[in-house]
Amino acid sequence: MSKFPRISDLEPAAARNIPPFIHAYLEAGTGNGHAMSRNRKALDKVTFTPELMHGRFVPNLETKFLGQTFSMPFGVAPIGLSSMIWPLSEHHLGAMAAKLNIPYTLSTVAGASIEDIGSKCDGFGWFQLYAPHSRAIMSSLLERAVSSNMRVLVVTGDVPGPSRREDMRKAGAPIGSRNETKMNLKMLLQILQHPRWALAALELKGKLRFKNMEPYVPRDNSKPISEFIGEQLNGSLTWEYLSEIRKHWKGKLLLKGVMQKSDAMKAVDMGVDGIVVSNHGGRQFDGNPASISALPSIRQAVGPKYPLVFDSGIRSGLDILRALALGADFVLVGRPFLYGLAAIGTHGGEHVAQILEEEINNALLQIGAQNIPELRQRLDLKN
Ligand SMILES: Cc1cc2nc3c(=O)[nH]c(=O)nc-3n(C[C@H](O)[C@H](O)[C@H](O)COP(=O)(O)O)c2cc1C
Repeated sequence: MSKFPRISDLEPAAARNIPPFIHAYLEAGTGNGHAMSRNRKALDKVTFTPELMHGRFVPNLETKFLGQTFSMPFGVAPIGLSSMIWPLSEHHLGAMAAKLNIPYTLSTVAGASIEDIGSKCDGFGWFQLYAPHSRAIMSSLLERAVSSNMRVLVVTGDVPGPSRREDMRKAGAPIGSRNETKMNLKMLLQILQHPRWALAALELKGKLRFKNMEPYVPRDNSKPISEFIGEQLNGSLTWEYLSEIRKHWKGKLLLKGVMQKSDAMKAVDMGVDGIVVSNHGGRQFDGNPASISALPSIRQAVGPKYPLVFDSGIRSGLDILRALALGADFVLVGRPFLYGLAAIGTHGGEHVAQILEEEINNALLQIGAQNIPELRQRLDLKN
């Protein structure tokens, strides 16, 4: 795969292989894309000053986190409807997670079911919950996650309602807006011009699936399923509801989307096991600060031992080290895994993981840091 030695090489290849209206769903930020570009700019500013002549060493990337041992300090962030971006992507990424011993987070609004992906992940599956208004649906989803061996529940707190994602609207992306777009001639032409995607998509049989939510659609429902899902999931989560979920879920629980220390401390007080510092990859609110700029103060507030995950804007192994140096214990990566699948096909996710692993190893060698405490010492605080 020397054609794609960096994630930035996969991204344009992915864009070529997916119909533009689908690509817009994967790529879109919100507003003018400022939060998304802020994520990148702030990560690029974090530098390390290398320390010379540490001799030969092979860094050990094995990471213990939330009672599990992972081969590397990163995993896959939840991506709703990723099977629309690249067909069967939940299956491919779940199998990758089991093979490489890294976590894969399945979204509530995934195309594939908790049961199918739980068994693919073989103990490396996490389940992301958009809390449904109906408590009966919530507890059913949690029971299914437990029986499917999903080890960690990731509750997403930063979606008070749908985001505008104007680029998606302009491109006519079929979801994420209130009106479900019907297939039209423009979309059909785009599909015909992207035969690799079209062939892979034969699996979808022309229909968007929300397999986790489908069992709960009332029999007499005449609206599109996306409307039912919107009614259930939009703006339902409150701190009181999170505390109900905490009581229900006996396993490890992460709250995703935290950007300030007061929210972090509320989660700590509520018995949440860890936090995902994230601005949703710049997809929810264009006025958000860069996700990485929120990390140090949250680490300081929660103390050195409290589990912290970081996501938003990670595009290299060096970025992962930047987040670890600034206080994260673990990192989630979103869009890049889909770039890999769309650019290369079935094993594209593995290629992304391999790039990240090699880049982490190489950067640690260049920096002269054999472990995270040494890495933190080399962090250049001038920036
Ligand atoms: C296409 C797409 C769909 C997403 N769907 C979800 C979702 O269903 N649940 C969720 O908690 N986050 C979702 N996210 C946010 C990701 O989990 C993650 O926070 C974000 O992608 C990280 O930024 P990155 O893509 O720059 O790595 C989605 C992101 C993208 C790009």
